[in-house]
Formats: sequence, structure tokens, C-alpha cells
Amino acid sequence: MKIAQPEIWWDRLFAPSSALAIITTVDTEGAVNAAAFGTATRVNHNPVDIAFTCRPSKDTSLNVLATREFVVNLPPFERDVLEAVRVVGLPFARGVNELTKAGLHELPALAVKPPRVEECTRHFECVLEWYHEWSDRIMFVGRVVAASVDDDCVDAQGYVRWENARSAHFSGASYNSFVAAYDVMEVRQPYDGPEVEAYDAFEKQMFGEQH
Ligand SMILES: Cc1cc2nc3c(=O)[nH]c(=O)nc-3n(C[C@H](O)[C@H](O)[C@H](O)COP(=O)(O)O)c2cc1C
Repeated sequence: MKIAQPEIWWDRLFAPSSALAIITTVDTEGAVNAAAFGTATRVNHNPVDIAFTCRPSKDTSLNVLATREFVVNLPPFERDVLEAVRVVGLPFARGVNELTKAGLHELPALAVKPPRVEECTRHFECVLEWYHEWSDRIMFVGRVVAASVDDDCVDAQGYVRWENARSAHFSGASYNSFVAAYDVMEVRQPYDGPEVEAYDAFEKQMFGEQH
């Protein structure tokens, strides 16, 4: 079952801060498009913003520029889903719904028009904040307006349960291998100068006591 996460936990839900993604968009007629992205990265904590880069000619770019919305869906490190990621990464003609081609299922989003991808474990619904074109790429930055997750993929404090979420990462062209890492290590701060207190105060101001 998918559960909506409160805004205070959106930041910790996108962890590690870069992950393999299926990004869904719609065109101005509402036709659904999906594509694979290795460049999706959480680039701001509060508010939570997610960036990715895409070639200007791609349907994803055309749709985001036209409708200003996209959903970043994070697939698990599972063979059948990763194979589907490779299918949605193929250059289908404009207007083709890649989710259907890949055997993936749409789930309506909570706050935007593009759908969520049911087989993915985490979903970040975004409204375009800004974009910048350079070097035959566009970098899009979206503000998260809703986030949801499979209920067995987070703990009671909203932290990702790695053994279930199993986030995947793209390990370099030619798009045919993926890696995963989900060992958690609490790491102490060995330095004890005044900067630590300043850092803690800043974190508290940003996130409140519960962080
Ligand atoms: C694993 C994987 C990662 C990819 N990462 C990116 C990426 O970060 N940026 C990009 O422009 N294309 C990336 N691609 C290629 C796009 O998914 C591909 O060009 C796709 O056809 C774009 O579809 P669209 O025209 O429907 O937007 C990736 C493909 C795969 C399989």
C-alpha cells in the first residue's frame, strides 16, 4: 500500500540524494510519457527540490516545458523492474506511453497530472521551479509538492528502510548495469570545535527538534 508522507519527511525519503528514476510527464493533451533517468538528484532540503538533466529534443523535456509538472519515481533494485527501466529508456515515438510498453502500471498522483509508477517504491511529485539549457542538455529543478511511498519502505520516523526500498543507481553508459547500496552506518562527529554547535543550531533551525 502507498502512503503519503508529510512534508517534514520528504527530504529523508529521497535518500541517497541521487538515485535511478523513472520520470513521468504528460503532454498538453494529457498523454502519458515515461523515461529513465540516471541524473535525478535531491538538490535542496527545505523546501525539497529535485533536479535532473535531459536532452532538449526528448519528450520529457518538451512535456515539462509545456506543463511544468513531473513525477520522479524511484525503482527498486529488482531485475524485472530494472529491465522495465531499460524499456522506458528506449526512444519510442512521441505519444507512445512507455509504461504500457514496459508492462508498468500507472497510479494517479496525489497533486499533479503525471501518474506515479506503481512498481516504484517512492514517488516525488514536482512542479517546475527553474530550468537552464547548456551543452545540449536542460537541467530541470522541480519543487516537491507531494511525496508517497510503499508502507513497508519507511520506518515510523520516515527514514527509508533500505532492505525494502532497495534504491538503485545507474552505473554508466551503456545503460545496462545498475548498482545498489543499502547498509546504514551511524557516523559520529570526531571534531569538537565551535563549528559543530553552529552546524547543530543551523540544522535545528532548518528542520526543528525532531531531526
Ligand atoms: C538507466 C538509464 C538512465 C538514463 N538517464 C538519462 C538521463 O539522466 N538523462 C537523459 O537525458 N537521458 C537518460 N536516459 C535516456 C532516456 O531515458 C532516453 O533518451 C529516453 O528515450 C527519453 O525518453 P523521452 O523522449 O520519452 O523523454 C537514460 C536511459 C537509461 C536506460
